[in-house]
Amino acid sequence: MSRKLMVAGNWKMNKNLMEALTLASQVITRAKKTSGKVEIVLAPPSPFLHTINSMSKDLGFVKVAAQNCHYEQNGAFTGEISAEMLKSMNLAYVIVGHSERRKYFNDDHSVLSKKVTAVAGAGLGIIFCCGEPLDVRENNNHQSFVQTQLSDSLFNLSAEEMKNVVVAYEPVWAIGTGKTATPEQAQEMHAFIRKIISEQYSSEIANNCTILYGGSCNPANAAALFANHDVDGALVGGASLHSDQFLQIINAREFLPVR
Ligand code: PGA
Repeated sequence: MSRKLMVAGNWKMNKNLMEALTLASQVITRAKKTSGKVEIVLAPPSPFLHTINSMSKDLGFVKVAAQNCHYEQNGAFTGEISAEMLKSMNLAYVIVGHSERRKYFNDDHSVLSKKVTAVAGAGLGIIFCCGEPLDVRENNNHQSFVQTQLSDSLFNLSAEEMKNVVVAYEPVWAIGTGKTATPEQAQEMHAFIRKIISEQYSSEIANNCTILYGGSCNPANAAALFANHDVDGALVGGASLHSDQFLQIINAREFLPVR
């Protein structure tokens, strides 16, 4: 996977069936009017993945992501979904390591590293989330915190597998809070993430890695975030639930230069 401009919408546990199909169809209809140079990723709740993936399949630049998966391929794990199942639906990505999964579902480093291995093994792309809580930022330890998250859960991948990874930097203090990292804070962390990927793998893999910002990204702040050299796009929560706001964020990405 080469470096992309990307805007991904993480719908979390929102929308019923009709609402989800309406939102997906609004986004897809409007996406047809964009140039297609921004990859648009929709991450709806799992019951709607298959239908929304079918709806989007004619537009090569609209992809669908699962919000989570289990690390085993199959078995007696009631309620869980495997990467292999998601692969059989031809999805493009799985989000792994979202801070809400880490906080509410005990997705710690050892679980996440197994999930990363399972998703890579199924041949799906990974959108790997990392980011520090507020106290870590205030103590100025954010870089080493994120470095540990990446090295503990992601850097077990081979160089070949790492080519299918998108990293989403999502400072926990900015998620759903209305507080956004400043463009300078985002750029500093994205450049740092690219540097450690380069040290771990190669400068080619680092330069080709798509790195998204997430955390209260909205139409008002998107352009300033995207203007930074290492910010390739966004992982959007709340604003992705409204097609007009989501499209404005996509447009903000579209009209800035390709890197
Ligand atoms: P938010 O969520 O845009 O609502 O802050 C981002 C995310 O959790 O990915």
